[in-house]
Amino acid sequence: MPSCYLNGEVLPLEEARIPVLDRGFIFGDGVYEVIPVFGGRLFRLAEHLKRLAASLKAVRIARPLGDEEWADILKTLVDRNGGGNQSVYLQVTRGVARRDLVLAEPVSPTVFAMSNPLTPPREPEPVGAVTCDDIRWRYCHIKAIGLLPNVLLRLQAADAGAYEAILIRDGRVTEGAASNVFAVHAGVVTTPPKGPELLPGITRDLIVELLQAARLPCHETRISAEALASADEIWLTSSVRELCPVTALDGRPVGRGVPGPLWRCALDLYQAYKQRTYQAEVEGCVSDLRPAAS
Ligand SMILES: Cc1ncc(COP(=O)(O)O)c(C=O)c1O
Repeated sequence: MPSCYLNGEVLPLEEARIPVLDRGFIFGDGVYEVIPVFGGRLFRLAEHLKRLAASLKAVRIARPLGDEEWADILKTLVDRNGGGNQSVYLQVTRGVARRDLVLAEPVSPTVFAMSNPLTPPREPEPVGAVTCDDIRWRYCHIKAIGLLPNVLLRLQAADAGAYEAILIRDGRVTEGAASNVFAVHAGVVTTPPKGPELLPGITRDLIVELLQAARLPCHETRISAEALASADEIWLTSSVRELCPVTALDGRPVGRGVPGPLWRCALDLYQAYKQRTYQAEVEGCVSDLRPAAS
């Protein structure tokens, strides 16, 4: 039975309990992270903890743990659950209190983490996507646990026989229901700029860094719905699905309907970076590698 972490204790997942008055359960009042583990090592941990701190600050929950404490807890959890490849989920809610929007008195946050086995395919498989109206709130840069709109959007995609919903707000692409979006036109890669309309994806940032370090044209710029429809390539990024080519959009082929050459190039850069990071960590020399400039 997998182990989890709950409020200072490591215990079997099935034995973990939270009170029904937890504000995460009642209001969806909390934030979360998903961190991939490759070869027993937490990938881009510093970046994930930085984004967690930003989400906590944005929703006015005091940071319950420092980065070193998080690192110790998560490493223990990963080891207890057998190392290898995992997907670590962590969640912080405002805590347990009588149901009222405003807290009558301060409470301690609820801190929870668990992990699931991750079996990334040797190579991300091509997927289909559909464009959908971005029905979410206006603070999408916060990794908030209230994901009902995302659930509905993914259901909408599934109803259309697609994997991901690519979201359009005011005629422009924001992101996917659980991914960031890249488009390629005539050899130039674009992805929407960061802001309140989208989650600052850890994988997105890494791909931008790697492409720019390799001197490939990659710009953070707005993508109109029309531009998306005429893209030669579309990619989705996320920590768990990595860099995924979209070969059909709204039932029509993207480019030639097969993963494109720039996707291949970006994937190679990403895999090489992963390998270098792993090697450096195993050798104990560097824990936070920056992409190598070419
Ligand atoms: C809405 C949304 N955008 C983007 C991403 C990708 O972020 P990351 O690369 O940090 O996993 C996710 C990941 O779950 C997400 O839920």
